[in-house]
Amino acid sequence: FLPPSTAGGGEGVAAKDKEGKDISVSKLLAAVTPGERVLTLGLDVNGGDATYIVINDQKEVANFGINAVCTHLGCVVPWDNGAKQFKCPCHGSVYNADGGLERGPAPQPLALVKTTVSEDKVLIAPWTEQDFRCTDLWCNKDPYWAK
Ligand code: FES
Repeated sequence: FLPPSTAGGGEGVAAKDKEGKDISVSKLLAAVTPGERVLTLGLDVNGGDATYIVINDQKEVANFGINAVCTHLGCVVPWDNGAKQFKCPCHGSVYNADGGLERGPAPQPLALVKTTVSEDKVLIAPWTEQDFRCTDLWCNKDPYWAK
């Protein structure tokens, strides 16, 4: 189930801030550094999980986002902007900047979502394409979360 988008016309659900307001892309890009990952809340994609918006090295919103829920036991995984990794505080799993699995006990990478920019909003939709990430611990093109 996807609730109606508040962005109008685009594909997906508008990413929201802590107060539940749609995130403004122009304000977001003014406040971030290239390569940053920005946690958004209140999404109803992939079961309502918190999701990271990916800011690429050109300081644009990338065309994919990263589900913030650890694939081990479900803690929300913080982004370490210095190390450029996601590090789970619960049992020490580590994911790379794209959410690829670097260290367990998590069994799988963080799930992907599709992101697009429309009318100054970030729209989030399910990721149904192949998984482009590959690490020593996990390299499987089938998106496990899309089953
Ligand atoms: Fe993340 Fe256990 S919940 S490592």
